[in-house]
Amino acid sequence: MLTSVLDRFPADFEFGVATAAYQIEGGQTDGRGPSIWDSFAATGRNVVGKEDGRIACDHYNRWPQDLDLIRSGGFDAYRFSFAWPRLLPDGKGAINAKGLAFYDRLIDGMLERGIKPNATLYHWDLPSALQDKGGWMNRDIASWFSDYAQLVANHYGDRLAQVATINEPWCVAFLSHRLGIHAPGYRDLRAAARAMHHTMLAHGTAVQTLRSCGVGNLGLVMNFEPAEAGDQSPESQQAAQLWDGLYNRWYLGGVTQGRYPEDVCQALQAYLPENYQDDMAVVSEPLDWLGVNYYTRGRWYQDRQVSAPDLGDVVAAGGPLAKTQMGWEIFPQGLRDTLLRIHRDYSKLPIYVTENGMAWDDHVVDGAVHDDLRCAYFREHLSACLEAMAAGVPLKGYYAWSLLDNYEWAEGYSKRFGIVHVDYDSQVRSPKKSYLAWQAGLSARRG
Ligand code: FCB
Repeated sequence: MLTSVLDRFPADFEFGVATAAYQIEGGQTDGRGPSIWDSFAATGRNVVGKEDGRIACDHYNRWPQDLDLIRSGGFDAYRFSFAWPRLLPDGKGAINAKGLAFYDRLIDGMLERGIKPNATLYHWDLPSALQDKGGWMNRDIASWFSDYAQLVANHYGDRLAQVATINEPWCVAFLSHRLGIHAPGYRDLRAAARAMHHTMLAHGTAVQTLRSCGVGNLGLVMNFEPAEAGDQSPESQQAAQLWDGLYNRWYLGGVTQGRYPEDVCQALQAYLPENYQDDMAVVSEPLDWLGVNYYTRGRWYQDRQVSAPDLGDVVAAGGPLAKTQMGWEIFPQGLRDTLLRIHRDYSKLPIYVTENGMAWDDHVVDGAVHDDLRCAYFREHLSACLEAMAAGVPLKGYYAWSLLDNYEWAEGYSKRFGIVHVDYDSQVRSPKKSYLAWQAGLSARRG
């Protein structure tokens, strides 16, 4: 069912699956320090059902089975993340030897199975001890992050095929410090503006560190959503334009051009760190590739109760297209357009789609999960990738989100993104139809 589209990709195109530490690992009693997601989840009304990542998919113990699933699915690569608080329980200083050994086993397990390790250093589980010092609001995070990057580089660097610094800086900064939807749950423009710059400064500093330790193939993973106006009014056009700046142009402009977009800088002027311009050479430290996470488009209008366009006070307009379990419109051409825009307006670097997938209320019936919609979602988004490549975009790989159903942050375990179903009581994994479609397509490709 995916065979005809997978067949059309070049032989050296890389296919993988992606996960993140907090969403799957569990295993939190083995010397791992607390993270901002533990306390955020423990605070009422932040997460559906107050659910947390204590057990998750128990990947900490069940990783051999999970890597076997990746191998037998026929995937070339696995995008996983290191849990900073597992390696450095206080964020800096003392190392947790058991944590270090866990990622040794995991990475060696990938290499033994012929799976390329594609590591992300930060996928949202900031050590709480660093949050106590202001976390992403504190400029010192650049050096804390760099020291952590150095530990990873020295211990694992020669075994990693590809390394990303941060996953989705928009979520780390804006979603978590302006909208308050993710940990640490701030709703404050100054907090957000600082995090918007410090994520990028930390990224660039870590790139320098990784490179000086001899680690290559370095990138940044950003999320993108085409931002459309929800109605014809000038206010909504303006809201969409500003949202585009906040979401799509800020990080991309910083990292590829050493420049943040003028409209957003103006809007945030009162809140940005002093002399942030002096850091832009570090922010735009050259990279080897760009990562694109894509799920949907956004349609926005200005909140009429707010007098002037206020950052973040835009309202989602919904849309007419079919939606996933997240309520996200299915809009494959947005992926093609995003890839074309990045290549045309920002960078000629190789691009990887580092996440793409959809949530659905999947159920196991007689041992099978018929997630036909997800199969169609993958097929349509893979076709969008092919269209972008035909138009000249140097797209080198595609990672499905996600290998397993997992902890979907503020949505707890209520949203299922996996190509493999997880029964959270028994921890039984059941490959869905989409997994079998990938398996058939990837094996046909190999011939
Ligand atoms: C992305 C995150 C990932 C997952 C998907 C659905 O924003 O990077 O961890 O939650 O959304």
